[in-house]
Amino acid sequence: MKPYYLTTAIDYANGFPHLGHAYEKILADVISRTKKVMGQSSHFVTGLDEHGQKVQQGAEREGVKPQVRCDRIANEFKKMLVSLGIANDDYIRTTESRHKKVVESLLQDLFERGEIYQAEYNGFYSMRAEQFLQEKDKVDGVWPEIFGEVTEITEKNYFFKLGKYQEWLLQFLKGNKNFILPAHRQSQVIEFLKEPLNDLCISRPKERLSWGIPLPFDQEYVTYVWFDALVNYVTAAGYGGKEFTILWPADLHVIGKDILAPPHAIYWPIMLEACNIELPKKILVHGWWTSSGEKMSKSTGESINPLELINDYGADAFRFFVMREMKVGQDAEFSIERFDSRYRADLGNDLGNLVSRLLHMCANYFGSVVPENHEPEKPELELQKKWKSTQKISKAFFEEFQFSLGLEQVSGFIRAINKYADNRVPWKLAKSAEEADHKNLQTCLSNMVEALRLANSLLVAVMPEIHAKINERLGLTACKSWQHDLIWDHRLNGKTIKEKIILFPRK
Ligand code: ME8
Ligand code: MG
Repeated sequence: MKPYYLTTAIDYANGFPHLGHAYEKILADVISRTKKVMGQSSHFVTGLDEHGQKVQQGAEREGVKPQVRCDRIANEFKKMLVSLGIANDDYIRTTESRHKKVVESLLQDLFERGEIYQAEYNGFYSMRAEQFLQEKDKVDGVWPEIFGEVTEITEKNYFFKLGKYQEWLLQFLKGNKNFILPAHRQSQVIEFLKEPLNDLCISRPKERLSWGIPLPFDQEYVTYVWFDALVNYVTAAGYGGKEFTILWPADLHVIGKDILAPPHAIYWPIMLEACNIELPKKILVHGWWTSSGEKMSKSTGESINPLELINDYGADAFRFFVMREMKVGQDAEFSIERFDSRYRADLGNDLGNLVSRLLHMCANYFGSVVPENHEPEKPELELQKKWKSTQKISKAFFEEFQFSLGLEQVSGFIRAINKYADNRVPWKLAKSAEEADHKNLQTCLSNMVEALRLANSLLVAVMPEIHAKINERLGLTACKSWQHDLIWDHRLNGKTIKEKIILFPRK
């Protein structure tokens, strides 16, 4: 089977990493890890978008060369990935020579085949959006605030023949219903395509912008940053080499809703089609983290930086929170209260307590040897039935990238284990001298250990560290295959496990 090739947006090198960046990388990491336990190898790439006006201006303000600034920012973003426990296979930076070569070769090829042409252009240019605007961008006859300063300029530029692919793209989208997830995003793109599509200006004169990849056929210009940035996905797949035939097409591009249309849903498919490169299989579009209803970004002055929670609570609690809290595709409001409540309830009370009391009882009553499972009765049968539905439903949600709903299932099962214990009351059974009670105590702890092992297997992608810690207590290495590890078979009976640990200390 082809490796699952998935990418994230490459972050702009013009600010600090924030929750939006962190979330997207966690989401992709969870998808990558899920693919692996489901039996497919995965190649997961993220990176940094380093060219363009904003980066150049930022460097000027700082009084350093753009590359110096980019190097520093790259380190900050890479540090964020490490702190989040992200296991990316590659990190692509658009200033790397492997990338410049690919951008140049695609541009040269398009130019030679007449897909790129030069024309005189007069228009209104927004510095902030780094693009020419059109009359239809006006609101009530004026340029809206988001475009910042808008100036009229006339210049010669190079254009990519986007317009001639409009009908093709429309037909493609109509014929490939699941290209963009969630589905309503695809409908929006189809709606967008009802307006005529203009050709895309893909050059910037060097006197205005020097921080970019020079056009191979005209050194007086650099490449428009989006045309450069999108190409990262094929660069990182080794375009031009043997690796490319193995990795491409990408199975999934994970991006936020602000960069779907036009860049990922219009420019990118058309660029690929014009270059005779296969299209990616799917684009997964997530929503925004908001704070008081506003999109969080580097410029919003949060009273607390969510990324600081990682230092206090660990990467996994943070990963669990964002994956549980945000329904993929929708926006989610960040608040420290929500974080706190999930930490205390889902993690501390449900999972943390289960692990500590179960290991404690096993140590006290059985010297940490997992007892034998006698004839199951109603409570055991119910718990096993609950497991059957949990694993089926949560796996299906995970496969559809609905991690919030999948985790809700897992948490529900963990609560069911605790409830099972509350019904069976092993701490009371332990005090009894009756033979039947002793057998029930054995059965109870055996079933709880098995249920914990199984629930924990479903957490491997979202909380890899916590998962490994729990499995380590059970004498197991981390789960590598769901096919193998989701079977209820009491494989730990008779095995010696370890003493309790506190997974989620009270704060
Ligand atoms: O757009 N909530 O870079 P970027 C959720 N360089 N996601 C958010 C977010 C928020 N509050 N804020 C940003 C760029 N994001 C380009 C991409 S790809 C070839 C080039 C997401 O640093 C955003 O939607 O502004 C995007 O997917 C990613 O973070 C990087 O944003
Ligand atoms: Mg942005």
